[in-house]
Amino acid sequence: MKRAEIFILLAAVMSTTFYHEDSMNDLDTFIDGLPKAELHMHLEGSLEPSLLLTLARRNGVELAWDSEDAIRAAYEFDNLQSFLELYWAGCRVLRHEQDFYEMTRAYLERVRQDNVLHAELMLSPQNFITRDIAIETVMDGVLRAMDDAKAETGISSGLIIVIQRQRPEKDAFAVLGAVAPWADRVDAFGLGGPEVQFPPSGFVDFFRACHDAGFRTVIHAGEEGPASYVREAVELLHADRIDHGNACLDDPDLVRILVERQIPLTLCPLSNLRLKVIPSTEAHPLRRLIEQGVKVTINSDDPSYFGGYVNDNYKACCHALGLDVVELAQIARNSFSAAFLPEDSKSHYLGLIDAYLTGSNCA
Ligand code: HPA
Ligand code: ZN
Repeated sequence: MKRAEIFILLAAVMSTTFYHEDSMNDLDTFIDGLPKAELHMHLEGSLEPSLLLTLARRNGVELAWDSEDAIRAAYEFDNLQSFLELYWAGCRVLRHEQDFYEMTRAYLERVRQDNVLHAELMLSPQNFITRDIAIETVMDGVLRAMDDAKAETGISSGLIIVIQRQRPEKDAFAVLGAVAPWADRVDAFGLGGPEVQFPPSGFVDFFRACHDAGFRTVIHAGEEGPASYVREAVELLHADRIDHGNACLDDPDLVRILVERQIPLTLCPLSNLRLKVIPSTEAHPLRRLIEQGVKVTINSDDPSYFGGYVNDNYKACCHALGLDVVELAQIARNSFSAAFLPEDSKSHYLGLIDAYLTGSNCA
């Protein structure tokens, strides 16, 4: 039997035996232990209120809030722009290499509890170099934390440099130049920031240059913007992954292309809920995308601001959309197969999912 067949058989056995009641507790426990990768998270959006306050005090940065509760209470958003304004305000507390180190270490420590074995971290240097913070300060702090986390806890991570789309394309080229000394540590370049009015087509030359230099590319599209932005990301920018991509469902021919080319979407359900992209988790397009054959993954986006890490996102979808163990395991498999990892690493992690499915739960 091929491994895929064994997987299907075991998953079917699990669905009908140990998980025959599919009780929410069983499924939550299943999600907790499921090996997974996180492919869409912004490091700056992982800054928890306690660290935000600590860094503000340490660096003498004035904030509009003086307690963790006050910060949490401010996390009410009407849309992407209202979130981004707070997120940019939060970035002001990061000034020194040690600050970037602590932010990155905190996230990598936290997601070990979610059994994240590999994480691809998004970082937007424009949040800092525009405030005269040296690129070395940013990169050295983040990379040292990634290295220490790997050495001390075993978690693997990669780095995605995200360009802010509200800034001119020439500034994106300046970032490409600025991070060139760390090219061997950068897996991909991405496009983020306010989506509407800033279509991917404004960055064709930049992402061509990224591909020519050997980098992968990921494009935020179809979060608040229309399906045509997702199409541009695929057809004009040749994106390796689409971040969000929800709106693709409005264009059946585009969905066919995503399925045919198996271009992964990195979905972020709790982010969509908090930014009012969807009215409820039940309304999230994840299930419809799965039914059409789109390769989907589940991620946290900005976990501190949106009130949930990756497992919270899996659980919210599981409960609201009725995902079963087979679907959950497939989403975790997608997270590794869509990762920017060498094939042997992917096989290793996929093997860990198989072992998890055949392990103690089934005995
Ligand atoms: N969308 C776009 N850009 C971002 C986001 C997001 O959710 N978070 C941080 N930068
Ligand atoms: Zn994002």
